[in-house]
Formats: sequence, C-alpha cells, structure tokens
Amino acid sequence: MKTRIAVFVSGGGTNLQALIHAQAENKIPDGEIALVLSSRADAYALKRAEAASIPTAVVSRKEAKSAEDFEAKILAALESHGIEMIVLAGFMSILSENFTARFPARILNVHPSLIPSFCGAGFYGLRVHEAALSYGVKVTGATVHFVNEIPDGGQILLQKAVEIREGDTPEILQKRVMEEAEWILLPKATAMVAKRIRDEKTEK
Ligand code: GAR
Repeated sequence: MKTRIAVFVSGGGTNLQALIHAQAENKIPDGEIALVLSSRADAYALKRAEAASIPTAVVSRKEAKSAEDFEAKILAALESHGIEMIVLAGFMSILSENFTARFPARILNVHPSLIPSFCGAGFYGLRVHEAALSYGVKVTGATVHFVNEIPDGGQILLQKAVEIREGDTPEILQKRVMEEAEWILLPKATAMVAKRIRDEKTEK
C-alpha cells in the first residue's frame, strides 16, 4: 500500500499545489496525499485541496485551549485518516517533542533559506527573506529537512541555492526561492521518504 501522507498548511498553499501537481504527474509513485490539515480555517490552501478532491481537516491553533490540546486534535485527525508521514508546507506552528517523537524521520519541512542561516524560532515566511536581504547575503535558497524537537534543526535532506539580485524585495525574493527551489525540492523529498516508508512496510 502507498504511504499515506498528510500535508500541513496555514496559508496560501503553493507548496501544497506543487505536491498536488507532482502527484498528478506520478512523481510521488509510492505516496498518496490522504489529508490536508490546516491550522487556520481561512487558509487558501484548503481550496486547493478541495479542488483536487483531497480530504481536509481544520485544527485551529487560536481556538485550541493549549498546545497539548492543539496537538491532541491533530493526532486524532491523523489517526482517523491512517496517516504515516507528514509534510509541513507553510505550516506556521511549532510542534512539540511529544508530537515529533511519534514520527521519527517521518515529518518533512520546507524552509525558505539555506539552513543553518536564517532559521529557528521567529524565522518564517517573508521574515526569512527580510533577514537575508538585510544581512546582505548574495546567495540564499531553500532546505527540506526532517522535523525533530529543535525548530529547523532536523537532518537535512535536500538544499538548493538561489541567487539574490540587485533590487530584490522580500516579496520578489520569496517568489524566486519558491519557483527555483521549494516547489522542486519538496515533491522530490516527499517522493524519497514515501518510498522509504513503503519499503520498510514490505520488508516486515
Ligand atoms: C514557504 O515559503 C515556506 O517555505 C515557508 O512559508 C511559505 C509558505 O508558502 N515556510 C516557513 O517559513 C517555515 N518556517 P505556501 O503556503 O505558498 O506554500
């Protein structure tokens, strides 16, 4: 059986869209996106999932009583959909060790810089690109890594460099990093890990 994947989102969902395209082109042959879980009810990513006929769940961080309550609700949704692997694609909440330890080497994240630059708590979305531009680096990029208890600290799977150009704004740079790196790396890493998990099941 294919590896059942949940994609976690909070916003626009362009990385989710890249995964949906890759799946349609059979580039994730050992995995199946079985759930899209959003931490916000108004995330546009949910519309992309619905358009692709992928089941969705909303677990609101704001409405959860605590971090524990938030994660317990997420775990319940994962269980009811038989999820074996998680892809964080613009998911803007940090998961605790209690959660990440349940899925060792089974949670992926895409981060819009070359880790260990411009990463960790507080570095997300446009802020990452603002930090790269204000530091004045000439090269940035994206990283796909496993998720553990350290924010952006898990093992690196794939990285790709992207050039910074004269006149870049955070928005222009964000778009270039997505187009040249994130949307390519995330489906590729997802396919690799889905295959590994499927192989582990058949070996048993
Ligand atoms: C992406 O650039 C992703 O790398 C970043 O948020 C954006 C989400 O866009 N993630 C982080 O900063 C995580 N620390 P999307 O919703 O269009 O995929």
